[in-house]
Amino acid sequence: MSTGKGTIKLGVLGSGSGSNMQAILDAIEDGSLDAEIVLVMSDHPDAYILERARKAGITAEVIDCGGFKTKFPDESQSAVAEKLKSQGVDIVCLAGFMRLVKQPMLDIFPERILNIHPSLLPAYPGLMAWRQAVEDGARESGCTVHFVDAGMDTGPIILQASVPVLSNDTADNLHARIQAEEHQLYPEAIRLVWNEIKK
Ligand code: GRF
Repeated sequence: MSTGKGTIKLGVLGSGSGSNMQAILDAIEDGSLDAEIVLVMSDHPDAYILERARKAGITAEVIDCGGFKTKFPDESQSAVAEKLKSQGVDIVCLAGFMRLVKQPMLDIFPERILNIHPSLLPAYPGLMAWRQAVEDGARESGCTVHFVDAGMDTGPIILQASVPVLSNDTADNLHARIQAEEHQLYPEAIRLVWNEIKK
């Protein structure tokens, strides 16, 4: 792991489309984020995030979760952490990764694992936070980048952006507008964390 000088080496873990990973890549390409994504990993062999990574020439690997559907077994976490470490990863970005990261990874990357969540935490942790906001009649929601701790969506908050919930919003509309904010917020949060590490 680097001591915080120069270009940030990022590892990204995701289970789905990978639009946040793409936004990070775009920020790298337009020169607004001095980083390199060195490895992308997914627990789903068919996840589009893997295809996006390969198209961009980034190493993309499937995580072996031992056949468990939702659990992230300790052995898998250790293997992922070792792999990320062997690639010199400085910061691990969870981007739509649907398994709970715990001790084996947290111990190897203390305060170096970030997550993006589609609500203004601590409101609406857990699954489909955008739907929770609409069903709750919230007037405002948004997104949060936070450090990962052993809880679910509970770690220290790094940055948030708010998004109004409109009276005719469907869960899907709101999610799309939250995602547009996420794509700005994640690169900015990575920059902020790296600047702190560099101090
Ligand atoms: C995002 O809305 C993120 O907040 C949540 O999962 C979604 C991932 O989207 N954790 P994508 O795979 O980055 O497009």
